[in-house]
Amino acid sequence: MSLNDDLRKRIESYLPRYPSKQAVTLPALHLVHDEQRCVSREAVKEIADLLDLATAEVYDSMSFYEFFREEDAPLGKVRLWVCRSLACSLRGGEELLRHLCQKLAVKPGGTTADGKISVEFAECLGACEGAPAVMVDDEHKHNMNTEKLDEMVNELKK
Ligand code: FES
Repeated sequence: MSLNDDLRKRIESYLPRYPSKQAVTLPALHLVHDEQRCVSREAVKEIADLLDLATAEVYDSMSFYEFFREEDAPLGKVRLWVCRSLACSLRGGEELLRHLCQKLAVKPGGTTADGKISVEFAECLGACEGAPAVMVDDEHKHNMNTEKLDEMVNELKK
């Protein structure tokens, strides 16, 4: 079994808040993804069972969004996004991404060997006024440069 009792209860607690069980698919995927750092095939099936859906329906929703990781490429403990859209790119976003990948010895989309940090490029994070912007899980960091990035990464690696 992939979903523990707590996760099941949290998914079930969404049911009264949504117009249909199907509408709970994405919130459920997010809950599982946040906790397990991926959504395994087993978890997809269990979510489908909980929501009275076909496994393929849940899998279709999950795979439509590139946000969700599958079990063969789970996220590290922290997900670090570097924006490479126009405003950030013009202010050094691509260089930041290159610097970060080199420092952590990963490619975009990869996770450090110790499983602590996953690095991804992002399209506009909605923080253009603070370009170049980075996001650490759900938290924006603005006006980044390599020094600030190194400092942040050193903290995250502890
Ligand atoms: S272009 Fe990077 S936050 Fe908008």
